[in-house]
Amino acid sequence: MAQQQVSLNDRDLLESVKTLRTNIDFAGIDEPIRSIILTSAEKGDGKSLIACALAIAESAAKKRTLIIDNDFRNPQIANHFHVRGRFKLATVLQATEDNLMDFCLETKYPNLYVLDLGNRRSDSVEVLSSRRYDALLKTAIKKFDFVIVDTPPLGMFIDAALVAPKTDGAIIVIRSGKNDIQSVKNTISQLEKANARILGAVLNCSKKKHSDYYYYYSKKEHRTKKKEVH
Ligand SMILES: Nc1ncnc2c1ncn2[C@@H]1O[C@H](COP(=O)(O)OP(=O)(O)OP(=O)(O)O)[C@@H](O)[C@H]1O
Ligand SMILES: [Mg+2]
Repeated sequence: MAQQQVSLNDRDLLESVKTLRTNIDFAGIDEPIRSIILTSAEKGDGKSLIACALAIAESAAKKRTLIIDNDFRNPQIANHFHVRGRFKLATVLQATEDNLMDFCLETKYPNLYVLDLGNRRSDSVEVLSSRRYDALLKTAIKKFDFVIVDTPPLGMFIDAALVAPKTDGAIIVIRSGKNDIQSVKNTISQLEKANARILGAVLNCSKKKHSDYYYYYSKKEHRTKKKEVH
């Protein structure tokens, strides 16, 4: 995929995330992966776009999928799916197993729902460390086959490090030609310090087409696999 504006209908993007989906499945051979977060070092690396495309791929594979917009400052997921978040964060945080679906926004894709937590608040650390947030995430993971959490860049906000350990693992989006190695290393180390499992990395906006190049990052029990999204 070239480095221009790209839509969720882009065939290259959708093909690439199918492979990402398969890799996530492989990472969960012993214990199925049912919840992930996407993060990156910097702003604009492609997290939200890839999160949405992956959500489409998961739902197309008949998994009941929820994508949670956990970027309180710059929520984009509802826009991508042309749906509108109608609920205040404080209200959504009170959701229970019985009424969670009342807060999930239907998309045009069967099996795919959006939970929009974005409301431009600044005390995200307080929210993400709360028991209510924990309970909400657990409920979502219980009610859906696959939960994707979109987060802000770790180089700017700590949010992803707070959420990642509550999920089955993190995928780091690296934007080719933009992120420097040190900022990616910092992202990895922040996730490791938080005791998050790093499932892999996606090399976004690579110029190479249909590459089958994989990079394995290995430290302790972590093994990171990199898939290129063109
Ligand atoms: N592979 C790609 N090819 C072309 N354009 C892309 C690609 N990935 C992302 N973009 C574009 O780059 C811009 C930033 O993408 P996106 O919003 O997904 O990044 P982000 O990491 O979520 O940003 P933020 O940190 O602000 O949340 C968008 O305009 C998106 O369409
Ligand atoms: Mg984003």
